[in-house]
Amino acid sequence: MDLGLRGRTALVLGASKGIGKACAFALAREGVNVMLGARGMEQLEATAEAMRAETGVRVEVGRVDVTDPAQCEAIVAAARAAFGRVDILINNAGGPSFGPFESFSEEQWRAAMELNPLSVARFIRLVLPDMKAAGWGRIINITSWATKSVLPGSVLSTAGRLAVAGLSRLLADEVGPFGITVNNVAPGSILTDRVRDIAVRPRLEKGMDEQAAIADIAQGIPVRRVGNPEELAAVVAFLASAHAGYITGATIPVDGGVVRAIL
Ligand SMILES: NC(=O)c1ccc[n+]([C@@H]2O[C@H](COP(=O)([O-])OP(=O)(O)OC[C@H]3O[C@@H](n4cnc5c(N)ncnc54)[C@H](OP(=O)(O)O)[C@@H]3O)[C@@H](O)[C@H]2O)c1
Repeated sequence: MDLGLRGRTALVLGASKGIGKACAFALAREGVNVMLGARGMEQLEATAEAMRAETGVRVEVGRVDVTDPAQCEAIVAAARAAFGRVDILINNAGGPSFGPFESFSEEQWRAAMELNPLSVARFIRLVLPDMKAAGWGRIINITSWATKSVLPGSVLSTAGRLAVAGLSRLLADEVGPFGITVNNVAPGSILTDRVRDIAVRPRLEKGMDEQAAIADIAQGIPVRRVGNPEELAAVVAFLASAHAGYITGATIPVDGGVVRAIL
């Protein structure tokens, strides 16, 4: 299916690896020119180079820590300078630490809230004027299955991402008349460095090898496997597409059925 995205422009955050990288690749394969952001330039440049070589679209990179307002403004300005405007915003970055509620300090709570929801709200504020002027826009936030079901240890993530769910539902109402949709995609266990760190490493420490550790995680998932970033990116590309204009205010799980809630 042609997603009708050729010539559009996207800003993809947390794009040097994992889910963000896969999303940027999926958009670039559809002919979208992309601005990639992350903190580590070496990995970001390598990702951009691979993307240019494979897709032929324009790929720009910008160093950004999404928790720093000045750096956020700078990368949006760079995207505008390169492409004229941002049509598609993919809000994504690292997640906060895992642990029990009582293990986190005031400072750790503040740092977590800087990631989610503050950086999400900030980037949306920065790109909205262009989208409204164009009468078209796609805002997609990567959240987590922890907004739908209790995930032990995820209190910082769950609290911040539920704020993202709330703000995006409200925003969908406000910007719908301008041809702008706002949606969240909620990963389950998608095999990336973050999942290797949070879910695989503790099992390795208990003596499992990597294959056994991944199989153990898969036991708790109805489809009995972990997901790959491309499976999630395909949903993001569809939500960004011309075909998805009637989907807004939604949170779409890509989780192999791990959220057992019925509604
Ligand atoms: N993988 C899953 O199964 C899963 C499940 C639920 C939720 N999620 C959420 O989905 C998001 C992406 O996860 P992932 O698994 O793809 O993680 P990942 O493999 O660790 O990749 C994170 C990406 O974000 C960048 N990043 C991290 N902190 C940043 C910051 N402050 N500013 C700018 N860029 C930053 C990283 O590059 P630099 O370090 O160079 O900046 C990297 O490009 C996270 O919020 C995660 O919590 C993932």
